[in-house]
Amino acid sequence: MNQIKTFNDRRLRLLSQMQKGVAIIATSPSRLRNRDAFYPYRFDSYFYYLTGFHEPEAVLAIIAGNGQGNAEQILFCREKDKEREIWDGFRYGPDAAREAYGFDAAYPIAKLDEWIPKLLENQPVVYSMFGQDAAWDARLINWINRVREQARSGVSAPSEIRDVRHILDEMRLFKSEEELSLMRHAAKISAGAHCRAMQKTRPGMYEYEIEAELLHEFRRLGAQAPAYSSIVAGGANACVLHYIENNAPLHSGDLLLIDAGCEFDGYAADITRTFPVDRKFTSVQKDVYQLVLSAQMAAIAAVQPGNTWDMPHQTALQVLAQGFIDLGLCQGSVDAVIQSEDYKRFYMHRTGHWLGLDVHDAGEYKLKGQWRCLSPGMALTVEPGCYIRPADNVPQHFWNIGVRIEDDVAVTSAGHEVLTVAAPKTIAEIEELTQ
Ligand code: GLY
Ligand code: MN
Ligand code: MN
Repeated sequence: MNQIKTFNDRRLRLLSQMQKGVAIIATSPSRLRNRDAFYPYRFDSYFYYLTGFHEPEAVLAIIAGNGQGNAEQILFCREKDKEREIWDGFRYGPDAAREAYGFDAAYPIAKLDEWIPKLLENQPVVYSMFGQDAAWDARLINWINRVREQARSGVSAPSEIRDVRHILDEMRLFKSEEELSLMRHAAKISAGAHCRAMQKTRPGMYEYEIEAELLHEFRRLGAQAPAYSSIVAGGANACVLHYIENNAPLHSGDLLLIDAGCEFDGYAADITRTFPVDRKFTSVQKDVYQLVLSAQMAAIAAVQPGNTWDMPHQTALQVLAQGFIDLGLCQGSVDAVIQSEDYKRFYMHRTGHWLGLDVHDAGEYKLKGQWRCLSPGMALTVEPGCYIRPADNVPQHFWNIGVRIEDDVAVTSAGHEVLTVAAPKTIAEIEELTQ
């Protein structure tokens, strides 16, 4: 893909929506873990979306022009540093970064405090991201104050501060074909990792051994990292929604729930599969699994342009509520089970979220108080589940069964595309793969 053009087009789209003022967008800070060891670095998704630039300590400034093509796009980044590059590796430096990434100008990040107040002079609006990083918020206010201090020389400071995410969230929600192809790739690698995990699992192994198989496959195929902490949850652990300890032994007769996806070139996959540790579903596991699968397939079928965001969730709920009644877990009619929220004893989360650069990606779910409509280019997960904890009013043979099935789906003009098709999910497919 023409990287420069892709990112430049996004900056121009942002500019056309800003119309006036200055946008200042910083990438994520590096975080010290202890002494001189840092957490693995991950750029800020908004910054990356507009620049494609991976390095830490970088800031993008976009200055709207007067409509005469005189808008400016400036990158601030680390300077070349022969000594540091021996230790930490290559860094672009402003000149090479400007050239490689197509900015109008690039300056050393150390000059930011000098430059930003100048860029803010006589500008009506400043767009940035607030509330993510207190140090950044304080810096921004300080820059604005420095412009205010010049009031007596006739310089005016921005009178409005706006959150640039209102514009960028909406842009990020609609994926381009280039983005979808990266997401397909992340999905394919992740699906392969789930297959590997299914094939390697044996009773007596530990959850972390299976986590290692996932990581092996992610990195082997070029993914940079997991997109989120992998959940590898055997037996009762599957009923802990955010279980990430992954340190328990796997027992024959239990199910193993794995929620794991990689990040490839910035884009996340998010897949959950649930399968028997010893390769054969018991009859009650089959009943619960088949119910969740039916709910998931019905919900995926509801991913259609023109349907509201909520329709896949409501569709899954209908199927699950009926299933809970059929299994004797809930009593009464489907409507009553949904109305009373009795289903929440077994299904307490929603059926999905937007997916993209972030696993829980940018984008509003409601517009003016109404669930928004699905449109081509949106990408979301579909992930119903059923989690049955021990309880007096639940027959014991259901206890500690936790099932979730999660796929990544893109809305297309004809309906939808399941990006994660390569991860088996029918009982027959799973039993065949694990033979
Ligand atoms: N893996 C996070 C989620 O499914 O939302
Ligand atoms: Mn998810
Ligand atoms: Mn997930």
